[in-house]
Amino acid sequence: MLIRRPNTIKPSEITDEAVYNSRRQFIAVTAKTAVAAVVTGTMSSVLGLQNAQAALSLPNITKSKYTVEEEQTSFKDVTRYNNFYEFSTDKEGPATLAKNFKTDPWTLRIDGEVNKPATYQLEDFIKPHVLEERIYRLRCVEAWSMVIPWLGISLGDVIKRVEPTSKAKFVEFTTLHDPVQMPGQKRSVLDWPYVEGLRIDEAMHPLSILAVGLYGQVLPNQNGAPIRLVVPWKYGFKSIKSIVRIRLTEHQPKTTWALSGPGEYGFYANVNPNVDHPRWSQARERRIGDFFKRKTQMYNGYADEVAPLYAGMDLKRFY
Ligand code: MTE
Repeated sequence: MLIRRPNTIKPSEITDEAVYNSRRQFIAVTAKTAVAAVVTGTMSSVLGLQNAQAALSLPNITKSKYTVEEEQTSFKDVTRYNNFYEFSTDKEGPATLAKNFKTDPWTLRIDGEVNKPATYQLEDFIKPHVLEERIYRLRCVEAWSMVIPWLGISLGDVIKRVEPTSKAKFVEFTTLHDPVQMPGQKRSVLDWPYVEGLRIDEAMHPLSILAVGLYGQVLPNQNGAPIRLVVPWKYGFKSIKSIVRIRLTEHQPKTTWALSGPGEYGFYANVNPNVDHPRWSQARERRIGDFFKRKTQMYNGYADEVAPLYAGMDLKRFY
């Protein structure tokens, strides 16, 4: 991964404490207003932001029990500090370069080891599902983290709908390949299209979601519009953006980062403070907006829910 080491973070990205404290108060108020706005459907106007490109409407949002009670990262940071290499390898690049990315119409294919393969238009794909607000931590392999209020649907429910066969052991996800719209794909920084994968039991876990929105509005393009994966106990690179295909497979998918740096990025990529990246420690992280670093938690704090999935596995080997 083209990674800036923590000591190369620009001073301008580190908030001074006074600004930080006043910002915390502001965020607390904004977050409360935001929750109220989700309920009344006025979120976009509260934040003064509309995603003109996305035609997806977000009806009937319910609150999920799978939510952390933690201060949310500001909307500005969530939408201005991004990893989306199809647009740029800079954090600030995707917000501008993805502005005109066309997400409507959007077709999603689900096939492979399933009895009911299907091609959906996004709106039809979402309709039968319950749209939930879930506040999750996202921990990047680069040792920074955020807390984001996603709007999403259960990935497990989607998979049940297409009826996996007994051979379905893994789930592979693929991002759109369109170098005209995604200028980063003209450069061979990665082997395009971006591919990610999960074991079927990880994909069926109730914490795994397909997100179509955040902060009460449709997903901004730079965050993976119109639909992206969110797996909160894994490093952020597993949460693949702008998905066009979900394929159930018998064999472990060849995933982009594992192909690009097999010694650095494993297939599992579970957040683990005890297994360092070969070039830096994973013991601590910088929560975006915070001044001080904090300790990284095993499975990003979701150990009670997901540790049983990995019982008996050597986590140093299956990193
Ligand atoms: N998906 C695609 N298609 N391309 C990418 O470059 N970056 C990953 C992940 N999904 C990436 C992607 C990484 S490294 C992270 S940390 C998260 O997206 C960042 O998500 P965010 O920008 O919404 O915070």
